[in-house]
Amino acid sequence: MIAIILGTRPEIIKMSPIIRVCEAQGVDYFILHTGLYYSHEMDRAFFEELDLPEPKYNLDVGSGTHADQTGRIMVGIEKVLMEEKPEIVLVQGDTNTVLAGALAAAKHHIKVGHVEAGLRSFDRTMPEEINRVVADHLAAHLFAPTETARQNLLAEGVEDYRICVTGNTIVDAVFQNLELSKKKATILKDLDLKPGEYFLVTSHRQENVASPETLRSIITGLEAIHQEYSLPIIFPMHPRTRKMVEQFTIPLDGIPVIEPVGFLDFLQLESSARLVLTDSGGVQEETCILGVPCVTFRESTERPETIEVGSNVLAGIRAGEILAAVRQMLSRPRTWKNPYGDGMAGRLIITMCSGKAGGLPVTVGN
Ligand code: UD1
Ligand code: UDP
Repeated sequence: MIAIILGTRPEIIKMSPIIRVCEAQGVDYFILHTGLYYSHEMDRAFFEELDLPEPKYNLDVGSGTHADQTGRIMVGIEKVLMEEKPEIVLVQGDTNTVLAGALAAAKHHIKVGHVEAGLRSFDRTMPEEINRVVADHLAAHLFAPTETARQNLLAEGVEDYRICVTGNTIVDAVFQNLELSKKKATILKDLDLKPGEYFLVTSHRQENVASPETLRSIITGLEAIHQEYSLPIIFPMHPRTRKMVEQFTIPLDGIPVIEPVGFLDFLQLESSARLVLTDSGGVQEETCILGVPCVTFRESTERPETIEVGSNVLAGIRAGEILAAVRQMLSRPRTWKNPYGDGMAGRLIITMCSGKAGGLPVTVGN
């Protein structure tokens, strides 16, 4: 039996292709949701839109300090693992759910499969980087999206036989939902936007939104872009960012802030944007897959493939540099190739997990 553990928006989206394969192939599995969000549009909406089965367990952990949140997730997961005794626990990405899930499972000698293994920003001030490193070193099976990710793992001494380069399940999710988005999404019409005639923004990284200076600097950069191009800037705002904007009383002149949108609407917004500005990991990948230029307002990225192929540029968080990066990206041809695989990652991961095609290699450790 496979336990699929998830807790946030990107995990629901990136696990959805794996869940679909489990459903289609009658794999024995269950979903454990740690419940880190409490608004419909950050959580339930994705289960409904992606047509995913109800989680068997929902821990409803909500927010907290890192230790408090991680600890409560671990306690909840351990109880479920003791009851269900799965052979393998799958976690995805870099959230506190991944850290807690990997720790709880490994301590009970349950094999951990880490989906999206081997990503590194090499910046240990990011909570996500700590989560990635720990999860990778606890995992028995590392599903690396690219060869670069595999090399990162090898450089840290992870044995080669544990690693499988699968592509990233975000490609599966984009391919599976893009046509549906074209048919069903209404957001361009609802917001009165014309394809190619607006910028799209997302931001929620702790290092960007927890500091008033940084958040102000990013917003100033967005206002400068709005002035230079006279195009609307659409900002579906993560609840954490909204909270900080209100707390720091930062004015948002000329930037229409909207609630976070569903995946189909977001795919429509992304694929038709002139350019996307973000500090999100998933959005850097999706813009690369969709052929839309991206400017990342961060100093480092764990998605260097997007920089190498030319779909994305790191701008840092200074207003002038964000504007300069936008000018640079808009002058580039959009001819890059998607480095994240062919959309079969979910199938490959489940084939490996369920013992078909020889199954996973025998492991040492857990
Ligand atoms: C988390 C993950 C991040 C992931 C992101 C997905 C970690 C360390 N961080 O960050 O890796 O990319 O989710 O979007 O696991 N809040 C609300 N409503 C909500 C949820 C949060 O108002 O539905 C507020 C809370 O006041 C909370 C703050 O936002 O204090 C931060 O939320 P938290 O769950 O701690 O982390 P995320 O920023 O969501
Ligand atoms: N996303 C969405 N609606 C939004 C903003 C983002 O559906 O309003 C999706 C986006 O398509 C991507 C994922 O959320 O797949 C990225 O999540 P997030 O930026 O919260 O986390 P990260 O990828 O940085 O871990």
